[in-house]
Amino acid sequence: HGTSRVNEQGNLEIGGCDTTQLAAQYGTPLYVYDEAQIRSKCRDYVEAFRKSGFAFQVAYASKAFCTMAMCKLVEEEGLSLDVVSGGELYTALQAGFPVERIHFHGNNKSLDEIVMALDAKIGCFVVDNFYELHLLDHLAAERGEKVSVLLRVTPGVEAHTHEYISTGQVDSKFGFDVKHGQALEAMKFAHESNHLHLLGVHSHIGSQIFETDGFIVAVQKLTELLGAAKDSFGFLPEVLNVGGGFGIRYVDGDTPQPAETYIKAITDTVKAELNARHIPLPELWIEPGRSIVGDAGTTLYRIGSQKEIPNVRKYIAVDGGMTDNLRPALYQAEYEAAIANKMNEAATEVVSIAGKCCESGDMLIWDVKLPAAVAGDILAVPSTGAYGYAMSNNYNRIARPAVVFVKEGESELVVKRESYADVVGHDLLPKRAQLQR
Ligand code: LLP
Repeated sequence: HGTSRVNEQGNLEIGGCDTTQLAAQYGTPLYVYDEAQIRSKCRDYVEAFRKSGFAFQVAYASKAFCTMAMCKLVEEEGLSLDVVSGGELYTALQAGFPVERIHFHGNNKSLDEIVMALDAKIGCFVVDNFYELHLLDHLAAERGEKVSVLLRVTPGVEAHTHEYISTGQVDSKFGFDVKHGQALEAMKFAHESNHLHLLGVHSHIGSQIFETDGFIVAVQKLTELLGAAKDSFGFLPEVLNVGGGFGIRYVDGDTPQPAETYIKAITDTVKAELNARHIPLPELWIEPGRSIVGDAGTTLYRIGSQKEIPNVRKYIAVDGGMTDNLRPALYQAEYEAAIANKMNEAATEVVSIAGKCCESGDMLIWDVKLPAAVAGDILAVPSTGAYGYAMSNNYNRIARPAVVFVKEGESELVVKRESYADVVGHDLLPKRAQLQR
């Protein structure tokens, strides 16, 4: 992927940096991000929209990987930012992200989060349900403000993806239901409110989607809804947001389309459907997360123990696991791997990569072909840039790894490795125990 290559020493190099040196300098596990690769992904979407002639915003879905450094990079690329919590919003604000380009998602935003976003004067709330709609209307009225909103609707589309990450179907916790008329009712309320400015509608049909057909059907449903809103109360949209979910390649057999293919399918459909309904073309927004950062990230581990069960399996354990990459345990997600210091050696054995957590399910990769490995070798797992660090955790009180950005032979620490002191940092000893000390 990206700027990776094998250098003269036979080591894996990313962004001009030898990964074995990165491992030595920053320790392992280590998340390494190829900065040029992230930027090129951002530009692919922007380019594709430029070609379409639509006014647009590409909002990076920060849930995939949200750090201040990433917010900064996204700002530099001219993208907008989708946040889903007070924590992500705080990260963006701390990074100085332009507030008018922040969109706030979430199916249960708390009062505190909403007030925080109102105070910050973010660009747009993506309202998920009637409770939030009425709360926001009330708060905006109290403050004498007019707040821009998109309504998230569930168009009833099931994308071909893992059950847990498809969100556009009818039976979903997210969004206003289209089929039973709730979406139209919510739109009417927002449209007629003196304190809400209804920009348009939003849908997100799932994640890690390879085909364009799901997006096409979603756009058809959204434009049907817009047609109904026009006919019943004269609403014309300024914005149509079709969410994220564009797939990436993790292993052989994954067949994502180039950004341009998805965008062309979406823009062509929007154009045809809205023209047919005599609705002026709105701004088009998308929210890619995984496809911006996923294949720009590689995790480096140090190999430790091994266990061979004759004629059954060889386990090779690394110094991380479900604490830095929950996806295999949660979704049976598959990854490839390489030994970063043995890139020119032939892959001779099939092994399974275990994490170090006290749990049998803590397996990173089943049955991967690698050169013979010994303790101290560096294992590189590519395509871990999305939902890796983002879903990292302290199970077994394991400290979270560091994150570095690499580019043109230079590396920069963007998230410090957690220390054990950080891990116990929020613990408090009960008072009586303190007296005994
Ligand atoms: N917009 C909305 C409203 C979303 O819910 C999501 C993802 C995105 C955009 C970005 O989707 P992306 O382009 O990254 O596919 N943890 C799971 C993925 C959960 C995605 C949740 N929503 C995983 O590791 O596969």
